[in-house]
Amino acid sequence: MNNTYCSLAWNHQFIGPGGLCKPCCRFKKEYVLENNDKYDLATSTINEIFHSEFMNDIRANMLIDEPIEGCKKCYEEEAAGKNESLRQRHNKIDEITENIDLRNPKIIFLEFAFSNICNLQCVMCGSYFSTSWIKQDTTGIMDLTIQHHKKYDLPNLNSIKEVIPDLTFIKFTGGEPLLISKYYDILIERAKHPNFENCSLVFCTNLTFFPSDELLDIWSRCKHVVLSASLDGIENVAEYIRYPTEWEDVSENIIKYLKLSDIMDIRVGIRPTIMPYNILSVIEFYEWWEVISSIYYNDDPDKLWSTLTHVAQPEFLSLQVLDKPTKEFIELNLNLQLSRTDSNEVKHHVEHLIKYMNLEDNSHLLNDFKRYTKVMDKRGLTFKDLEPDLYEMIFGEK
Ligand SMILES: C[S@@+](CC[C@H](N)C(=O)[O-])C[C@H]1O[C@@H](n2cnc3c(N)ncnc32)[C@H](O)[C@@H]1O
Ligand code: SF4
Repeated sequence: MNNTYCSLAWNHQFIGPGGLCKPCCRFKKEYVLENNDKYDLATSTINEIFHSEFMNDIRANMLIDEPIEGCKKCYEEEAAGKNESLRQRHNKIDEITENIDLRNPKIIFLEFAFSNICNLQCVMCGSYFSTSWIKQDTTGIMDLTIQHHKKYDLPNLNSIKEVIPDLTFIKFTGGEPLLISKYYDILIERAKHPNFENCSLVFCTNLTFFPSDELLDIWSRCKHVVLSASLDGIENVAEYIRYPTEWEDVSENIIKYLKLSDIMDIRVGIRPTIMPYNILSVIEFYEWWEVISSIYYNDDPDKLWSTLTHVAQPEFLSLQVLDKPTKEFIELNLNLQLSRTDSNEVKHHVEHLIKYMNLEDNSHLLNDFKRYTKVMDKRGLTFKDLEPDLYEMIFGEK
């Protein structure tokens, strides 16, 4: 396998807010917009986009190991030693790659993120992905965040209808997927066609909802469901970041999801998004998850999973915004905590985070971080409540 080949270019499209398509979720949007304006489902069908000159060029370049500008995020993660980049991970998934014919690309995998309907205002998110952020009083931070005062949707499903029967892998994100009724329509449509029992589903959810009986019935008929739980910490860390989440509700829901493993093939895992607010509690969080999930998956450890992502945008919320003494403080603290864990997976996650944090010095943006934090603190809990020592290091006050 060469260094740029990605199976997703042969079998997948990502459908972003409003229907703007990209080769995958990590692909840098500006390269889609810069190269052509035809990647929108408002004007083209999904197959026209997938077989466009732009996609054909990407595939041809990958085969001769040429780097693709829009794939930068994967290359950067590979350079930073992340467990696996999206490219590397998908190249290894047999059920996605086994039927690829390099001369005949065909969509079998779609990721749906066309709607931004969401009930939360997570600290690192914004109105592009959450309608609730449109309602947020942004006084004092308008110049720091990009505001999309718009509800995104796909006008109708005709532009994707032709590929639905062939889908064997579907990922639903958003917005909050369990709130988006068109996602349900897509699933009902797929379930009407043959081989639904060979179709795998992925849901990325904020855990504030639990599926209806109708949705559970569909889940039980597919091959398996991967539930990617977007939780970034426990208790007050979760409540600060995923405003206005109640920890009691989400912790109850995650147990309900885990219990579904008694009646269907569901693989629940956690995917925290890491930033200065939760970096010091990340090990405690993984430990909590190991205890909870092993109760349900002890006999089948392959189903136990955790991963992570880190905030890269907005840049002022990235770990790289911290100054050198604060980064050293964090590194020391994490290494001390790591000495009590035996989990190689957790060690790998944390080593990656430290490496990523130290890769760039963006401390010139620290004042933006401080200003933004003060606005977020007005929602109730404060950063100081979560991490008093780290707060003191960054803000220079107790
Ligand atoms: C936009 S959300 C949509 C799906 C669902 N609402 C959820 O939270 O899982 C998809 C993922 O993006 C993550 N995310 C949100 N803002 C981010 C940011 N600025 N940088 C990196 N990931 C982010 C979320 O934590 C979540 O795991
Ligand atoms: S739940 Fe997901 S989409 Fe909603 S605000 Fe949070 S990260 Fe954004």
